[in-house]
Amino acid sequence: MPTETLTVQLAERSYPIHFSDVAERLKVDISNLRASGRTVRVISDARVLEAHPEYLSQVGFEDDEILSLPAGEATKSIEFFSQALSHLAGTAANRDCALFAFGGGVIGDLAGYVAASYLRGIDFYQIPSTLLSMVDSSVGGKTGINLPEGKNLVGAFWQPKAVYIDTALLQTLSPREFAAGMAEVIKYGMLADLELFNDLIALKGLDVNSPELPAIVRRCCAIKAQIVADDEKETAASGGRALLNLGHTFAHAIENAAGYGQYLHGEAVGIGLSLATQLSVALEQMPASNIALTDKVLHQFQLPTRLNEPLKSSDLMAAMQRDKKNRRGRLRFVTMTALGSAVTTDGIDVALIEQLWCKAGAE
Ligand code: GLY
Repeated sequence: MPTETLTVQLAERSYPIHFSDVAERLKVDISNLRASGRTVRVISDARVLEAHPEYLSQVGFEDDEILSLPAGEATKSIEFFSQALSHLAGTAANRDCALFAFGGGVIGDLAGYVAASYLRGIDFYQIPSTLLSMVDSSVGGKTGINLPEGKNLVGAFWQPKAVYIDTALLQTLSPREFAAGMAEVIKYGMLADLELFNDLIALKGLDVNSPELPAIVRRCCAIKAQIVADDEKETAASGGRALLNLGHTFAHAIENAAGYGQYLHGEAVGIGLSLATQLSVALEQMPASNIALTDKVLHQFQLPTRLNEPLKSSDLMAAMQRDKKNRRGRLRFVTMTALGSAVTTDGIDVALIEQLWCKAGAE
């Protein structure tokens, strides 16, 4: 049996990720917080609350402790950030307040940034409700909101005090959202765990009821926990936390050029992972046979490897120039030297990237 709690090792800011008896554990932790005189608040969204109407009351939250916001990427904005801060101030939340995020990546990122900012920082806890947030965004302390000018342009590193991963919450996830989360799972195999990659190929497919799912989620969290412990703020000169962005330079460009909401993030990551493999092959870092292998696993999990409709190559290239990973005006990508082994690669020829976009269906 794999361990049921992992620790993200960050010295005095270390924290647990809980995987078993999660609702029970939450109930005990909330009760202990109250017993020590702390107030608790939850930020969630209307769709998650509707999908899980009893969850928060069963673990011990009162209705008036819950702030429900609209579902969707638009909630990760200055307006809702301001609304959430006013809600805390208006309900007399003090420095002892423990703020919980109950939802996917949008709610986790927003609530985390609220926790980082309110009264110069209050304790924060994550209860992720989507596969993508369970394996990626709830762990590692990246919090923030979008500006009209771009995604995640404002934020802070603010580590949670604990993460509660209850895979039972995935029961209400749509197959499309589930597939989108699988893109991040496949990403972990490609960047750090060949065995995971091979296991995914052998599995052929997976859904919320697959007995293998909880162990796979734990495996992804273990990889992320190690990478975050080694390079918490993504300051390593090469490699480090930036490796978690395998496929994401392409993906962010697709989301930006297509207009947010056209592709789910994970769908864009699927195309990005295929392109990152093609780039690694073009750079002669790994054999061409890996392209078919990567596309095969992405298709097995219902993910796209090409654009649905042509996007302008010039728009995609312009979006890439704004990527946060770029150094001194040079494009920086995460590539692979083998499946299961990623590196950061600088100074890639722009013409090569344009060719890859054309192959993926851009014009
Ligand atoms: N999602 C990438 C990271 O947390 O660094």
